[in-house]
Amino acid sequence: MSPFGCWGLPAALLALFCCPGSGETFEVHTYPEQLAVEPGGSTLINCSTSCALPDTSGLETTLTKTLVASGTQWKQYLVSNVSQDTIIYCYFTCSRKQKLKSLNVSVFYPPKQVLLKLKPTRVAVGGSFTIECWVPNVAPLESLTLTLLRGKEAMHNQTFRTMALAPQEATVTRNATAHKEDGRHNFSCRADLDLRSLGGDIIHGVSEPQTLKVYEPRPDNQMVVIITVVSVLLFLFVTSILLCFVFGQHWRQRQMGAYRVQGARGLSRAYWAQ
Ligand SMILES: *[C@@H]1O[C@H](CO)[C@@H](O)[C@H](O)[C@H]1NC(C)=O
Ligand SMILES: *[C@@H]1O[C@H](CO)[C@@H](O)[C@H](O)[C@H]1NC(C)=O
Ligand SMILES: *[C@@H]1O[C@H](CO)[C@@H](O)[C@H](O)[C@H]1NC(C)=O
Ligand SMILES: *[C@@H]1O[C@H](CO)[C@@H](O)[C@H](O)[C@H]1NC(C)=O
Ligand SMILES: *[C@@H]1O[C@H](CO)[C@@H](O)[C@H](O)[C@H]1NC(C)=O
Ligand SMILES: *[C@@H]1O[C@H](CO)[C@@H](O)[C@H](O)[C@H]1NC(C)=O
Repeated sequence: MSPFGCWGLPAALLALFCCPGSGETFEVHTYPEQLAVEPGGSTLINCSTSCALPDTSGLETTLTKTLVASGTQWKQYLVSNVSQDTIIYCYFTCSRKQKLKSLNVSVFYPPKQVLLKLKPTRVAVGGSFTIECWVPNVAPLESLTLTLLRGKEAMHNQTFRTMALAPQEATVTRNATAHKEDGRHNFSCRADLDLRSLGGDIIHGVSEPQTLKVYEPRPDNQMVVIITVVSVLLFLFVTSILLCFVFGQHWRQRQMGAYRVQGARGLSRAYWAQ
């Protein structure tokens, strides 16, 4: 007699067909577990299971899929033309029990263009200028950090918290005061798209370096003209006063000389009259 007696076979059949939960447990995996792809991109996905002899399996997706290779416990698919964020499901059926595994696919737009502008490009020491950096057509914005650099030193960085589905422009603007040494460094802007939490890498983009011309402030032309005119007028005024004084003295001296002669004549006349 077998240990199960006459109930052995029916019990085994019951376990297999009637109550799937009591059958063998198995797992479904996807590799990679999540994905970040560029728009229009394609990628390989490996679905696998711990079930020794799976019955059926497949990939649930609205995307174009192709079976590339397979083994008894795995299937490899090529998924192509990803245009927006989506979830792909991978399933296996084992002993009439089905298990699903979801895989998040995120579409990203890398920072292909990083643009930097200094306004103005020529500034006096102590004057203010604006640094503006922008990245067109980038997503997801919440994974982006823009850093403004003076030489190798990071002056400012900004992250974007907005949840935007469509790619858009990211901008950072900063006002600064010009220092003498600013003219010796190049300004640049770095964009980092950190896709590690979405199953990708960090993607970097850097702007062309921009130079700031810094000069010592000099009095401007209008000031020079005003100072010159005032100086000339002052000189003329002082000169005319001096001249007046000198001529005035001279005239008085001549007047007094004439009196003296007249006085002398008067005296001599008086003398002759005696
Ligand atoms: C798919 O994954 C399974 C399980 O990890 C592995 O044995 C198999 O070699 C993989 N197939 C490919 C093509 O990488
Ligand atoms: C890729 O997807 C876009 C939009 O979903 C579609 O317009 C285009 O025809 C697709 N291209 C291919 C080669 O399937
Ligand atoms: C996948 O996306 C869903 C909804 O978008 C989210 O709730 C879930 O946490 C994501 N899974 C992973 C592993 O990121
Ligand atoms: C941004 O700046 C902060 C300090 O202001 C720093 O801790 C952080 O590492 C910077 N992030 C990046 C990506 O450079
Ligand atoms: C920079 O300065 C300008 C005017 O000088 C001002 O309008 C603007 O708001 C400032 N921007 C920042 C980011 O401080
Ligand atoms: C600044 O950038 C220019 C090119 O745009 C380069 O020729 C120059 O060497 C750079 N200067 C410094 C200090 O890095």
